[in-house]
Formats: sequence, C-alpha cells, structure tokens
Amino acid sequence: MADDPRSHESPRTAVVWSVLRAELRRRRDLGVTELAVLDVGGGSGVFAVPLAEMGLTVTVVDASADALATLQRRAAEAGVAGRVVAVQGDADRIAEAVQAASYDLVLCHSILEVVEDPGQTIATIARLLRPGGRASVLVANRVATVLARVLSGRVAEAARAFADPAGRSGAADAVRRRFDTGVLTGLLEAGGLVVERLHGVRVVADLVPGAMLEGVPGGVEALLDLELAAAATPPYRDIAAQLHAFARRP
Ligand SMILES: C[S@@+](CC[C@H](N)C(=O)[O-])C[C@H]1O[C@@H](n2cnc3c(N)ncnc32)[C@H](O)[C@@H]1O
Repeated sequence: MADDPRSHESPRTAVVWSVLRAELRRRRDLGVTELAVLDVGGGSGVFAVPLAEMGLTVTVVDASADALATLQRRAAEAGVAGRVVAVQGDADRIAEAVQAASYDLVLCHSILEVVEDPGQTIATIARLLRPGGRASVLVANRVATVLARVLSGRVAEAARAFADPAGRSGAADAVRRRFDTGVLTGLLEAGGLVVERLHGVRVVADLVPGAMLEGVPGGVEALLDLELAAAATPPYRDIAAQLHAFARRP
C-alpha cells in the first residue's frame, strides 16, 4: 500500500478520506500489505480509483453500466485497471455477485438512500466482511435537508422533510430516504456491526461558495481545518450534509 498523494481530496470529502487513511495506516502497522476492498454502489470510482492508486484491489458493484464504463476508463487513465474489478449488479442482491467473508473493507457510500431495504444491505455487507473487517458507510443527513431547504426559501418542503421520518421533502423528492445519527447507528448495530467512529461530512464545506475564498490567502486550508475539527464535534456533526460511520465486524 503506497502513501496517499491526497490529490483527490477536497474539504467536501476530507473527513471520509482521513478515516480511510487511518485504517490503511493501522493495517500497514499490523504488517498487512494486501487488502480486499468492495465498493457497493461505487459508481464511476470516486473512491475506488484513488484506493487502487494506493495499491489496493477494489471490486466495484454498481447497477449502472454507464457508471462502470466511466469507472473502467478512469482506472485505465490512472494506470490501475488491473486493480479495479467492475461488477454490474444490484446492491439489494449483492450476495449473489460476490463471495461472503472475503473483504477487509466495504464502502457503502451514498447508496443506502436508494436501496430496497437498507437493513438488509447492511446485514449483507456484514456477512461479506471478514471478521475484523471494516465498513465505511456514508449517507444523506435528514437534518441538513431541512436546514438547506429553509435557507433556499423552500419552507414548505423543509416542514415536510422535518415531519417525515424518512426525511423526504414530498412526493417529488428524488431521494427515497435520509438518515440521522441515531437511525444510522441503529441500522449498523442491528446488522451486527460495531460503530467505531461517527462523523459529519460537509459540516461547513458547503456553507461558503468557493468563489468567496478565491484570493483569500490560506482560505481553503482554514476551511479544511474547520471541517475536520467540526466533523467529530456535536452538534456541528449532527447537522452536516452527510453522516459517515466507520464500523467493525466483530
Ligand atoms: C450517488 S452515486 C454514489 C457513487 C459512489 N458510491 C460515490 O460515493 O461516489 C450512487 C450510485 O449507486 C448506484 N446504484 C443505485 N441503486 C443501486 C442499486 N440498487 N444497486 C447497485 N447500485 C446502485 C448508481 O448507479 C450510482 O452509481
């Protein structure tokens, strides 16, 4: 596993990468040099390609042939096509596509919002992990949805998202469900996973238009530092646009 060049990071994803990097360091310190990674709903490889660039072998299962074609093109451009395996399949039936108890790390990013049964997906992911393996789970935060809609003047939608346990702003909402810290933790625990870390993602990163920081010396770095500090600190964590849980299969 090579060191991460960090070129793929931005304040919007820095927290997730900091958790993933810490896990890779932990494994390396234990003398582990090969890790099998599964990226469920990994799409065009926003996470899979940089992980492959770090020397990991990543299997991406995604329903979209187009996304997988983009993944393969990006992996080839990055020179890591041999370390990225693309599998077209449905997260709701993922156990049919890959082997049980064979992964050290499973990514499940921005997909629980759309699957048939998130509890079933998590239980399956737990079975696909080797004992001691980790799951990285990223979901949309229903609290942030309410606040974002108010800020853009869509108060009726905000009120509906506030009242709906799934955090949907109405019938036209493209997202099937959103989560909060309690629901996400409960889901992982019910699936047999032990939550080790829980962060907010995009706590402050989305609050400032990029253009506003242009020309401000150290502006982006200061935003990144604040994002990383606030990510683990309630109540800031709990209002982030997304929630990230890192959990272990006992
Ligand atoms: C919002 S994208 C997230 C992509 C990637 N995980 C990331 O974080 O950049 C959601 C991905 O899930 C895929 N997807 C949606 N429903 C799916 C399902 N039932 N089974 C597998 N993949 C699915 C879509 O094709 C898309 O690539």
